[in-house]
Formats: sequence, structure tokens, C-alpha cells
Amino acid sequence: MAPRWLSIALLAAVLPSCTLATPMGDHLETRASNDDPFSPPYYPAPNGGWRSNWAEAYQKAHSVVSNMTLAEKVNLTTGTGIYMGPCAGQTGSVPRFGIPNLCLHDSPLGVRNTDHNTAFPPGITVGATFDKHLMYERGVGLGEEARGKGVNVLLGPSVGPMGRKPRGGRNWEGFGFDPVLQGIGGAQTIKGMQSTGAIACLKHFIGNEQEMHRMSSVVTQGYSSNIDDRTLHEFYLWPFAEGVRAEVGSVMIAYNDLNKSACSQNSKLINGVLKDELGFQGFVVTDWLAHLGGVSSALAGLDMSMPGDGAIPLFGDSYWGPELSRSILNGTVPVERLNDMASRILAAWFKMGQDQDYPLPNFSSNTEDEKGLLYPGALFSPSGIVNQYVNVQADHDITARAVARDAITLLKNEGDLLPLRRNDSLKIFGTDAGSDPKGLNSCADKGCNRGVLTMGWGSGTSKLPYLITPQEAIANISSMAEFYITDSFPSSVEASSDDIAVVFINSDSGENFITVDGNPGDRTASGLHAWHNGDDLVKAAANRFSQVVVVIHTVGPIILEEWIDLDPVKAVLIAHLPGQEAGYSLTDVLFGAHSPSGHLPYTIPYQESNYPSSVGVLQQPFGQIQDPYTEGIYIDYRHFLKEGIKPRYPFGHGLSYTSFEFSNPSISILTPLNSAYPPSRPSKGPTPSYPTTIPPASEVAWPKNLNRIWRYLYPYLDNPESAAAVANSSKTYPYPDGYSTDPKPPPRAGGAEGGNPALWDIAFSVQVTVTNTGRRPGRAVAQLYVDLPDSLGLDTPSRQLRQFEKTKMLGPGESETLTLDVTRKDVSVWDVVVQDWKAAVAGEGVRVYVGESVLDLRVDCEVGGRCSTL
Ligand SMILES: *[C@@H]1O[C@H](CO)[C@@H](O)[C@H](O)[C@H]1NC(C)=O
Ligand SMILES: *[C@@H]1O[C@H](CO)[C@@H](O)[C@H](O)[C@H]1NC(C)=O
Ligand SMILES: *[C@@H]1O[C@H](CO)[C@@H](O)[C@H](O)[C@H]1NC(C)=O
Ligand SMILES: *[C@@H]1O[C@H](CO)[C@@H](O)[C@H](O)[C@H]1NC(C)=O
Ligand SMILES: *[C@@H]1O[C@H](CO)[C@@H](O)[C@H](O)[C@H]1NC(C)=O
Ligand SMILES: *[C@@H]1O[C@H](CO)[C@@H](O)[C@H](O)[C@H]1NC(C)=O
Ligand SMILES: *[C@@H]1O[C@H](CO)[C@@H](O)[C@H](O)[C@H]1NC(C)=O
Ligand SMILES: *[C@@H]1O[C@H](CO)[C@@H](O)[C@H](O)[C@H]1NC(C)=O
Repeated sequence: MAPRWLSIALLAAVLPSCTLATPMGDHLETRASNDDPFSPPYYPAPNGGWRSNWAEAYQKAHSVVSNMTLAEKVNLTTGTGIYMGPCAGQTGSVPRFGIPNLCLHDSPLGVRNTDHNTAFPPGITVGATFDKHLMYERGVGLGEEARGKGVNVLLGPSVGPMGRKPRGGRNWEGFGFDPVLQGIGGAQTIKGMQSTGAIACLKHFIGNEQEMHRMSSVVTQGYSSNIDDRTLHEFYLWPFAEGVRAEVGSVMIAYNDLNKSACSQNSKLINGVLKDELGFQGFVVTDWLAHLGGVSSALAGLDMSMPGDGAIPLFGDSYWGPELSRSILNGTVPVERLNDMASRILAAWFKMGQDQDYPLPNFSSNTEDEKGLLYPGALFSPSGIVNQYVNVQADHDITARAVARDAITLLKNEGDLLPLRRNDSLKIFGTDAGSDPKGLNSCADKGCNRGVLTMGWGSGTSKLPYLITPQEAIANISSMAEFYITDSFPSSVEASSDDIAVVFINSDSGENFITVDGNPGDRTASGLHAWHNGDDLVKAAANRFSQVVVVIHTVGPIILEEWIDLDPVKAVLIAHLPGQEAGYSLTDVLFGAHSPSGHLPYTIPYQESNYPSSVGVLQQPFGQIQDPYTEGIYIDYRHFLKEGIKPRYPFGHGLSYTSFEFSNPSISILTPLNSAYPPSRPSKGPTPSYPTTIPPASEVAWPKNLNRIWRYLYPYLDNPESAAAVANSSKTYPYPDGYSTDPKPPPRAGGAEGGNPALWDIAFSVQVTVTNTGRRPGRAVAQLYVDLPDSLGLDTPSRQLRQFEKTKMLGPGESETLTLDVTRKDVSVWDVVVQDWKAAVAGEGVRVYVGESVLDLRVDCEVGGRCSTL
């Protein structure tokens, strides 16, 4: 299994142009940008440890790091090589201090490539619940399973891509096409995961908005996302700031360039934005094989190389490992930088309590066999027991089912056709209702679309421990259902007037290393249409039956126009990507045990041309793709509102079997916004200090009697003295322009994790009573949108989601009063000149709306004034 992945990856790296069917991509528009994309230098890397909530962890790290040799520190920073252990990647170990090889492993929805785990619904489904509690609970489940398998760092959550490109392959791993929904989803997941002791890894930082051409290699250069400062702050960086504020232990760098500088060695991005402005205290790790340079990345603030390999994987060399040892001995990388890397990694480890009884990996992602090679990537590897088949599922199926169920989004329900009754005569169509005929997990990393679609494909997956299909769940509830598990409508089927046809269709996407049905990750072949001729299947059913229900499993926006207005199509449900609980989560809603309460985490347009022309997937045979973000923050509903384009279904839309009234709205001022800019930031606390002298060369000499594993990555050098001699020679290193070792003045927008803490002062609080006015129990979501005043001097979207709350289950007639908090940051814009967040003083002119979607607003408040119901 392992070599298969690698061969595909290598092939992709060596044959970058194999997917280049069309020279120019969909919607490509070349627009001259006045600003030439450029990432200014930002040096030196800020040291971690100045936040009081991390002080104890950094103290512990300090007492260890100050006693470590050069080889031991380098070991923490560099992976041992791809396939050199059970996990997607592992660091070297430091046996002298009881620090094991740290295991870093996928994915954001469950432990990848193992057994007896839970396959939770992915991020897009979690976002659709608009339920903060479920977001947190799923995080707890993920963390417990990571811990149980011995995974130190679970590679999630994903808050980038942000859905800029509707065809983008990995949008489904994140929580929705809005920075606040992503931010809350990501932060709740991190808090849940890290409450168990697992380290979360927030990814992909940043601008990884399409799959094709994301990677740089020896023969090609990944695309450059050219993002202006305001767009970065107000849109793409927002969820990362929330994740850092949630004390995330690690951040993963994206493959692509930002402003023509690779994210893994972009000093402005890592040193400036992430570590200084956002005050990130954990460690920064590459995406797999995204490491492109040794000294450059160390100076730019990278802390860990994964899986450690250099330009060509499995060659036994690295940009770090021995080369990092050399660059310290020869005086090029300051010792202080390495001490900070090691401190950051160990501080995260101590902060989560991983020094106390944290299990070692007890599974292998390389094989399902009990015994296997310990280092499959080595030329000669010892073998041993690699799989202990530890069951880590506990009762996480309950959370997984609740997420999948409470995400189900009812788009349409004419004549209250739903919920179905047990005695309704049902005819069920579509392979998406059934199982994969080739068996559960028949494709590695879900690289096929057969049977019910439970998740997209790629590294953001886990194996299904079991799967209850819609077919099985419906069959268990209804004896009146007949199943036609086929995508071509059976001409023989009889339709009587009472029959209800339930048609299952789907749309898939995934990661670039696998191509499915001509889609290389991004939905280039399928576009935003249903796969497997799903539109034809619905039309055929609508031609024969007078009552049709359509159930859609999809990675993102899907065009419904071929059939949505046909008279028989009474009801349409988006069940997103349900994970292992696909069946019963759906029947819970279809048969009315629960009212649907999910809401769209993106807009559904009438047609793809409704999107800005700048958000198509770009393809280009030669040279680096430049991807200017000319649409700025006008993504998804922000764009539709600005251009006055009516969507088919707006962001936030989701019907229920009951109805809700919003009443008694009020707004109160909690922290008066006396000034446009926040009060000045707190000053930085001290960071651990270490001697800065270059350590003796002998510390990285090969140890005697080492049982060396061929091609495994070690920190040692053959001739360390010769490296050390360079430090005293006249040889100098050509440092990048703007390189400096004098710390920069702390940025005014910083001051705590996430930024200046005053940005999260609660400026206003809106209260509203939600009453169930219908006949069935249900849950409502109150979505709060702001409209910022012209006085801020910038064009702003007319509605921006800033907060949401979901009611408990309300019985008919029952009410709940919800409180929705709005912070200073929520009513601010990023001032590119002052480099700070600028708010409307006293909230003057800010309008606050609360509603059930961005186009279904029920409450309108003027800050400092009154609220009214609409
Ligand atoms: C990217 O380039 C734009 C335009 O030159 C600039 O406004 C922005 O600050 C740059 N951002 C980073 C992180 O380099
Ligand atoms: C590290 O060395 C110091 C003395 O330099 C000592 O006090 C401390 O206990 C040592 N820490 C560890 C973890 O060995
Ligand atoms: C570095 O890590 C390797 C692999 O885990 C280990 O064999 C070696 O002993 C470590 N080196 C030091 C100096 O701790
Ligand atoms: C020091 O070592 C690093 C890593 O091999 C190398 O890139 C750099 O050029 C060396 N510095 C000097 C001054 O030779
Ligand atoms: C694997 O995990 C189980 C349960 O979490 C634990 O008991 C066992 O010790 C672990 N195996 C190793 C090698 O740590
Ligand atoms: C189906 O069951 C409902 C009660 O749940 C009943 O009112 C209705 O008459 C039944 N319909 C048929 C066709 O049996
Ligand atoms: C299958 O249906 C029976 C009878 O309605 C029900 O008791 C049982 O819980 C169902 N199975 C599951 C796993 O929900
Ligand atoms: C380099 O010079 C320093 C003094 O400036 C000396 O202590 C050190 O031993 C020298 N290192 C080598 C490898 O010559």
C-alpha cells in the first residue's frame, strides 16, 4: 500500500504536466494587478514562550533543551524519512530525556489507514450543523482516537482551502465558505482535540485553494496565490487567527507560494504574520514534502520538516537533519533559532501533557498485517509486531451520527412530502443509496466513487470501520421500500400514484495525488454537476413518478437546475458527507424522528458562471501559475450580494419540519468602542534564554556502535569538524535581503494568541427569543450578520456572518432566548496603512441582522439604537 502512494506521488512530481489537457483553465482571466506580488522580508524569527498560558510548558521545555546536544535538538526538528515508521511521519527521538519519535498522522476526520477507528463526517458536514457543541464533541472524539492509537499530532483541522474555488478538491475538509464558520469550526475542533492530550495541527497555511499544480518539485513550481494584505486579514487569515487563539499546538504550511514566495520559507508569512502578529506559540511544520530549502526555511521560521526527505523522497537525504547540524556548526543558522525550534516542539508536547503516559503508536499505516517491516522505506528493515488493532471507537458513533444528522439540510419540501411515513410506498434509486459492490474501503484513500459517498478522497480520510448505507437503514425502517441500486433508470419499474421515488445522487472531489473519473482532485471533469449522470436519473424518476425526493451527498456546491423546478420534485435534502453513519443519520430525518436542522455552509448558484471569473481552477503547461485574488473578500455570498445575483439557495439556508419565530430582539453595549483602533497591545513577556555559543562539533559525530538503518534520516555528519571550521573561515553565507538578527518591534496588531486581545472584547450582545411555532419539535439556527458603515472608508460586503447559535430541541410552542456576541474585531476592517484593525467608533452606523439565512433576516438592530423584527 505504501509504495503505491509513493509511486503516485513520485509520478506526480516527475510528470507535472500529465494533467494539462487544456493550456488555459476554466474562467481564466488575466487581469493586470497594480501591486506586483511580493512578500517583504521579515527577520529574525520571533521566539516562542512569551505568553503566560504557555509559560509552564516552556519552562519544562527549557530545562530539557538547555541540556540537549546539537544532535538531539536536530532530531526533534526533522522527520526520519517517508515510510520510516508507522505514521505518515515521525521525528527523531531523544532517548536520553524520554522523548519518543513523535508520530504525526492524518486526518481531520479520523485516524487514517488503520482499523477499529471512527470515520467521522468531514468538516463541511460539521460546518452545516452550525452547532458549536457538536463541533467540540467531535474534536474530543478525534483526540481520544489519536491518543488511543499513539498519534502525537493529528493533522487537522483544515481551515484552508476556504472554498474560494467551488471546484477546488479539498473544500470539504474545512467547515464552509466563510471565515467565521471556518474559524468557529476550527477552534471548537482544536479545543476538543487538545482536551485529550493530542496535539492539533491547523492547516493549510495559506492560499491552497486548488489542488492542481499546488506542489513545487525539482521540475516544476507550485502556483502562487497572490493575496493582498486586506483580503488576507479579513478572509483567509481569519480562521487561522481563531485557531491560534484556541491555543493550537502546531500549524501546517501549504505547498503553494504566497506572493511568489513558497509558504514553507516565506518569512513575512511565518515570522511576521503567524508568529509575531498572531503570537503563535506552537511549532510550524511543512506539508508532506513541501520542504524546499534548508537555511532559508529555518530563517523564515519553519520548525519541523515532514516527513524529513529532501528534494527526492527515499534518497536518504534531507534539507535538515545533518544539513541543519552543519548550518549550526558553520555559523549560518543562529543557535538561537534551533533552540527556539526545539522549545516550540517540546512546549507543545509538554502543554498537552504528552510527557505523562502518552501511548506509543500501536498501529501501522503501512500494512494491515500484525507483523511487518518497522521501516518499509529502508533498504533493509527489521520487522516486528506493527499492528495491535487497538479499538479506539468508544461511543464516538453517537457523536458521528449526531453530526451527520444535524447537518442534513432541507432545501425544499413542497406540500410537506417529508417526513416520510413508515407505510409509504417507496422506490429508491441510485448507487449512492447502496454499498460499494467491491467492498468496504475497496479503494485506497477513498479514491473512487462507488456506493454512498461518505467523504471525499485523499489524505483527509480514514477507513470506514463499518458502514450502514441508506439502503440498509431504510430497509430496517420501512417494509414498503423497493430498491433499484443503479444509476440508469430501470425502464421496467412500475409507478403507482401513491409511490414516492427517493433518488440518491452525489458529487465527489479530493486530493491531487489521485484522479477519479478524470477529476485530478479538483472537479475539473465533473464541474459542479452530479456524478454518474445523476441529473438524468432524477429527471427519469420525475418523468415516471408524481412525488420525488432527492437526496444529495456532495463535497460542495452542486447545480440543481436540470430538475429542481420539475413539478414532481417536491423535496430535496443535502446530506453533505456523512461518514460511517450515513444510513441512520439520514433515516432519523427522512422518517421524522428528527427535524432537519442543518444549514448550507455555502451558496448554491443557478449556474457556475454566477461566480467571479477569477475563481476557476487554473491550468498552465509551463512556468509558474500566478493566481491573483482580484475578487478580494467577495467570495461566495459576499460576491452574490455585491453583484446582485440571486442564488438558487442562499448561504445559511435550511428548512425544518416545523417553523420558528424570532421575537423580542434587543442589543446591548458591553465594551464601548471608544476608539477606532484597539487599545495598545500588552507587551511581550520574556522567552526562555539559552547560551548562543556554537556547540562542539563532536555532538553530531556518528555515535559508535550505531545500528544504522540505510536511508533513514539521522542528525549526524561524517566530518563535523570541517563544518565547524567554516564558522571561523572567511566564507560567508549569502543571507536573503533584509535578513537581520535584531528583533523587530512587536507589531501593534499583536499582543496575545490570535492578535491584540482587545479585538475579542465583546462590543455588543444581541438577544433574541426563538419560538417553535409549528407542530413538530426542531432546532433553529440564529445567524448574525453585520453590515459595516461607509464611514470606515472601505467597500465592505453588505452582510458578513459574525456569529451563530443553535437552539436546543424546542417542542411545539417552546422558546429559547439566544445571546449572540459581537466582538470589536467583528465590526472592524483591516487598515493596511496603520497595520491594525479599525472599528466604527461607538459602533456608529453598524447594522446587525439575525436570521435563518443570509437572505432570510428576521431581526434588524442599529447599534446604540433599537432592534426590530422584520
Ligand atoms: C502580498 O503582496 C501584496 C501586494 O504586494 C501585499 O499587499 C501583501 O502585504 C503581501 N503579503 C504577504 C504576506 O507577503
Ligand atoms: C538540566 O541542567 C540543569 C543544570 O544545568 C539542571 O538543573 C536540570 O535539572 C537539568 N534538566 C534536566 C531535565 O536534566
Ligand atoms: C535521533 O533519533 C534516532 C531515531 O529515533 C535515534 O536512533 C537516535 O538515537 C537519536 N539521536 C540522539 C542523539 O538522541
Ligand atoms: C552552512 O551549511 C549549510 C547547510 O549545508 C549551507 O547551506 C551553508 O551554505 C553553509 N554556510 C557556509 C558559510 O558555507
Ligand atoms: C497502544 O495503545 C494501547 C491503548 O491505548 C496501550 O495500552 C498500548 O500500550 C499502546 N502500545 C504501545 C506500544 O504503547
Ligand atoms: C399509514 O399510516 C398512517 C398512520 O401513521 C395512517 O394514517 C395511514 O392511513 C396509513 N396509510 C396507509 C396507506 O396504510
Ligand atoms: C432497526 O429497526 C428496529 C425496529 O424499528 C430498531 O429497533 C433498531 O434500532 C433499528 N436499528 C438501528 C441500528 O437503528
Ligand atoms: C573558532 O574560533 C573560536 C574562537 O573565536 C574557537 O573557540 C573555536 O574553537 C574555533 N573553532 C574551530 C572549529 O576552529
